[in-house]
Amino acid sequence: MNIELAINGASYQQSTTASESLLSALRRLGYYGVKFGDEHGLTGADTILMDGKPVNAGLILAAQAEGHAIVTIEGLGQVPDQGWKKTEGLHPLQQAFIETGAIQCGYCTPAQILAAKALLDRNFNPTEVEVREAISGVLCRCTGYTKPIQAVLRAAAVLRGEPVKSEQLSVLSGIAAALDMPPTEGLLTDNGPLVTTQVAPKIVVAPEVKPYQVVGKPEVKVDAVKLAQGKPAFAADIELRGMLHAKVLHSPHAHARIKKIDVSKARALPGVAAVLTWHDIPRVVYSTAGQSDPIPGPLDSFSLDNKVRFVGDRVAFVAAEMPEIAEQALHLIDVEYELLPALFDSTEAMKPGAPILHDESEYVPFAVCDPQKNLAAEIRIDIGDVEKGFAEADEIFEAEYFVPKVQQAHIEPHVVVTYWDEDDRLVIRTSTQVPFHVRRQLAPVLGLPVKRIRVIKPRIGGGFGGKQEILIEDVAAHLTIATGRPVLFEYSREEEFTASRSRHPMRIRMKTGVKRDGTMTANEMYILSDTGAYGCHALTVTGNTGQKSMALYVGDGDYRKSPNIRFYADIVYTNHTPSGAYRGYGVPQGFWAVERHMEKIARALGLDPLEFRLENAIHPGEFHPFSTAWNEGREPHPETIHTVGLEECVRQGKAAIGWDEKYGNPNWHVGTGSPRPGAGVLRPNRKGIGVAMVMQGTAIPYLDMGGASIKMNDDGSFNLLVGATDLGTGSDTVLAQMAAEVLGVPTEDILVYSSDTDFTPFDKGAYASSTTYISGAAVVKAAQEVAERIKARVAKMLKVARLQVEGSPVEVPHVEDNLEISNFQLSNRRVIAPDGRSVTLEQVALESLHHSDQEQIMGVASYVSSSSPPPFAAQFAEVTVDTETGAVKVDKLVMVVDGGVIVNPLTASGQVEGGMTQALGYAVCEEMLYGEKGQPFAKDFDRYHIFRADEMPALETIFVETFEPSHPFGVKAVAEIPMDGVAPAVGNAILDAVGVNIDENPVTPEKVWMALKATTDQHR
Ligand code: FES
Repeated sequence: MNIELAINGASYQQSTTASESLLSALRRLGYYGVKFGDEHGLTGADTILMDGKPVNAGLILAAQAEGHAIVTIEGLGQVPDQGWKKTEGLHPLQQAFIETGAIQCGYCTPAQILAAKALLDRNFNPTEVEVREAISGVLCRCTGYTKPIQAVLRAAAVLRGEPVKSEQLSVLSGIAAALDMPPTEGLLTDNGPLVTTQVAPKIVVAPEVKPYQVVGKPEVKVDAVKLAQGKPAFAADIELRGMLHAKVLHSPHAHARIKKIDVSKARALPGVAAVLTWHDIPRVVYSTAGQSDPIPGPLDSFSLDNKVRFVGDRVAFVAAEMPEIAEQALHLIDVEYELLPALFDSTEAMKPGAPILHDESEYVPFAVCDPQKNLAAEIRIDIGDVEKGFAEADEIFEAEYFVPKVQQAHIEPHVVVTYWDEDDRLVIRTSTQVPFHVRRQLAPVLGLPVKRIRVIKPRIGGGFGGKQEILIEDVAAHLTIATGRPVLFEYSREEEFTASRSRHPMRIRMKTGVKRDGTMTANEMYILSDTGAYGCHALTVTGNTGQKSMALYVGDGDYRKSPNIRFYADIVYTNHTPSGAYRGYGVPQGFWAVERHMEKIARALGLDPLEFRLENAIHPGEFHPFSTAWNEGREPHPETIHTVGLEECVRQGKAAIGWDEKYGNPNWHVGTGSPRPGAGVLRPNRKGIGVAMVMQGTAIPYLDMGGASIKMNDDGSFNLLVGATDLGTGSDTVLAQMAAEVLGVPTEDILVYSSDTDFTPFDKGAYASSTTYISGAAVVKAAQEVAERIKARVAKMLKVARLQVEGSPVEVPHVEDNLEISNFQLSNRRVIAPDGRSVTLEQVALESLHHSDQEQIMGVASYVSSSSPPPFAAQFAEVTVDTETGAVKVDKLVMVVDGGVIVNPLTASGQVEGGMTQALGYAVCEEMLYGEKGQPFAKDFDRYHIFRADEMPALETIFVETFEPSHPFGVKAVAEIPMDGVAPAVGNAILDAVGVNIDENPVTPEKVWMALKATTDQHR
């Protein structure tokens, strides 16, 4: 049928079907700012305005939109300077989102801006609560909502005609200075719940930090302007002639052999271009974990197999002209299964007689690994003499802890487009964190040499480790090979929950020996980790769990010199959805156990929980205890930790949360009570405060490598090409800032491109908190190379030219001098000689490209690190517990991070806010549950709850800088550490509030209520 749509003031004649959604119709018309997030409108990524009201375009039929005024993000505003044609510029909301750092991956940004516009169109002066409510229908997994809320309040002020200040950083030069600062101030305009917003974090700067020109400044993200306009920047924002749509038939059974599969009816369906089963493609074993060569894990996966190992495993691939036809074809595939006994309990996995998941002859083991015992990996690490340490202890504390399976829940699903180019090379345009690993690992699976594959990574709508998996690229690629046509494959939200990867659930047993004065004498951790049906990241995630969380506490005195630590783990297969990489990479699991355990020990011995931890924590100058024993299955290298800002983190955090006034104060713990429904009585509330100390790593030493190339353009700007993958973290911006600092230009003169395996240098990808440190060091080296070439050229130019002295209106003759180029400075787009003469970078570029001794000034560099300097943090939480229902309300989270020198406070604090928010879900509500036949319970954001804007506690971020000597700008990592401390800090705060220990997260009301009831029953 033909319909007429009124979009952004223009009229479109569009042919549609009776079932086509408005989302699909808009995207077909090129309005790519409207995004797919899920089938039910629960992410709100598909929000548009219809007659001024926010609606979900995915839930409305295109035909229903006829006669209504539709506004998409593309209708709001554009960059004012479009060559000779000027526009009215960006809308104040777009501008505010850019300026406040409210855009991380940017996938939710168009929807948030439109939802906010609907509010501001009717209310120029909203309260913060009203703003939170207005955007609560748009889920964001990146930001923690702090900066988007402030962006809307800022835009409202602009629309009211009020002046707005540019963001001021609370930058402090002395480490004690932050303690004297006033409490967090926000733009509070409401009388609602206690919620504060602050865009710029407090920073206690490292004394070694020089006054940099660009590094350390809250620069606008290099991609913010395009993302605020909803430009077609993401993998699916592309239309190719003849593009097919792919769908996958998933297994309804947890463990079964495919006896027969009949696809004849599906192939015969008009519009179906290909149906592939395990009969049709080569049987090549591989690992879906995107990691460096050799893959540190078993090879145990096939694109399609004759066996399925979890509910959601792959059975067949279909490509059709339309998604609806592909879906229909799935129902026409007849599969006869032979059901096999299934394994759901990790404690049963290694017992004799347990069902064996991997009996295929092609299985390739790695390190200690035994598929006959369902053992995907094993770890045995002994440091010092643990038994001696236990023998010397006054007290031994033992306990068992549990952590659940949780989902990365990036708002952009996994999505890929594949096609043959004109040179018969396969192009894979994909939402991946690891483009180079995708190319290398898929080449044998597809029967193509690496050189005939090109992987393009456009903008990514969040990854959080979920896109470190090579999960969908082979599906589209096989179908493109089969049909010769472009193929788009996008996961549904249900597939994200049922056929993607998730965090490893673990049972963690702790045993700790302590003297009565609080000195730890030995520490032991045993983990039983459930890798699910495939062993992707099995060894490395669980290895990280022990390596990072057990390294923090080494003991004091002689124990500090020779710590006694044991870390054993078995990582077993079960018929659950496979586990994989998720931000934090095993460390949040470890710290749930370690930090709950430390709290219990401190309380049992009557010790101050902060002092007890600090007394046993690692110090600068000491070896990372695990560096002598473990390196992800490779040769270990002893490594000294140079910087530990933990003590200062604790000092700042205590002041920010008011620890001294609250901890141990019985009056403060008595809450005000919450109303009992239907009665005038208040239910008794109790308040509690808790802490957790954490550390992470920064990249994998001797393995992670990043490359960068920089070339100079005619106008003195630079192209920076990096293989590093910005997932929305702001890494492109941070890398541009480092290049800009070295080259003496503003960040806007650095044009970043990342990443494309054909054009950008190799990079191991975005994981292990490594981009700023590893790729950043490569960028600095490349920029230094360019700077040297520029200086050498300027030296030549100064010898033959009459040039302007800096700041002088007259030209002076050159002097035959011996210019020492190491004293040249690059600053403010100029090269300044020691005698004051200067040359602009544009002059240098024109000279080198056009005038004499022509050359392309460029630099290429790579960097691999010999160390993995850990960031540290103190995480504080304040909670209120309803003692009748067990409901826990987290009131405030304060995180103080030593992440080395902070290159961009806005993007770094955005990382911490977003990380704390994800970690809050891990603490109190997120969990993937399964039925007795292995069927997943959560298939959407209704049954799997992630935090909305109107549910957030107050968040505060403080950075305590240290200068990491192994990096030119002193940086360490920030991205993963916010995931580690929230859950144990909340668990400890609950213990502080009501005296019960919950050893299994998330701490749901039911668990708290049961624990309270058990305590009450005990005292009867
Ligand atoms: S910025 Fe909101 S989902 Fe990424």
